[in-house]
Amino acid sequence: MLVTQVSASILSADPLEFGKEIKRVENSGAEMIHFDVMDGVFVNNISYGIPLLNSMKGKTGCVMDVHLMITDPFKYIDNFSQAGADIITFHVESQSNVKETIDAIRRNGVKAAISIKPLTPAEAVYPYINDVDMVLVMTVEPGFGGQKFMDMSGKIAAIRKYADENRTSDIPLDIQVDGGIDDKTSAIVKKAGANILVSGSYLFRQEDMAEAVRKLKEEFLTDAE
Ligand code: DX5
Ligand code: ZN
Repeated sequence: MLVTQVSASILSADPLEFGKEIKRVENSGAEMIHFDVMDGVFVNNISYGIPLLNSMKGKTGCVMDVHLMITDPFKYIDNFSQAGADIITFHVESQSNVKETIDAIRRNGVKAAISIKPLTPAEAVYPYINDVDMVLVMTVEPGFGGQKFMDMSGKIAAIRKYADENRTSDIPLDIQVDGGIDDKTSAIVKKAGANILVSGSYLFRQEDMAEAVRKLKEEFLTDAE
């Protein structure tokens, strides 16, 4: 089984305290910082972009996990890569050509990932299963932190199965989930086959973030155990 990793979504952190908060994430045992980019068109919210990512570059040992919720991600791949992204995720529902955008990410030496919203079926990622490092299955409608978890177990399990049967690479596909992940919903998504958990509001409201990260990573018990 893949080891569970945690990506802390700084959308839930106070922007005036980002310097302090990325250190808090680093000390919590979370492997990644999840950086949500919203353009006010692809989703009904606006967050932040390239200059902020650039200012965080080199300031943390965490993997910079950039989630683009923007209309034309292809146009900005070089900029986000140069600003320090280690992984770039974009949506198959965006207007960019999916294959061209994956290729642009790879050309920059960055890990490539595609994401699907709750109403988009698992099949939408199948044509790219050999081209990406990671698939992000949204467990809320993208746009805001703090929303209620939507159970996408069937979709996660279908993608895990399809990847196991069809990927030519020896490296297993990472399946990330994003939205409403806490100490309870984490068990559901891990059981379905997800191995990278994005968490925002749950992690940032904790006094002891390290303890919360440990809870997210806890092995779930199967029915047989
Ligand atoms: C939502 C963002 C998420 C968000 C998750 O569109 O993509 O990354 O920050 O926040 P929580 O964990 O609070 O649902
Ligand atoms: Zn996100």
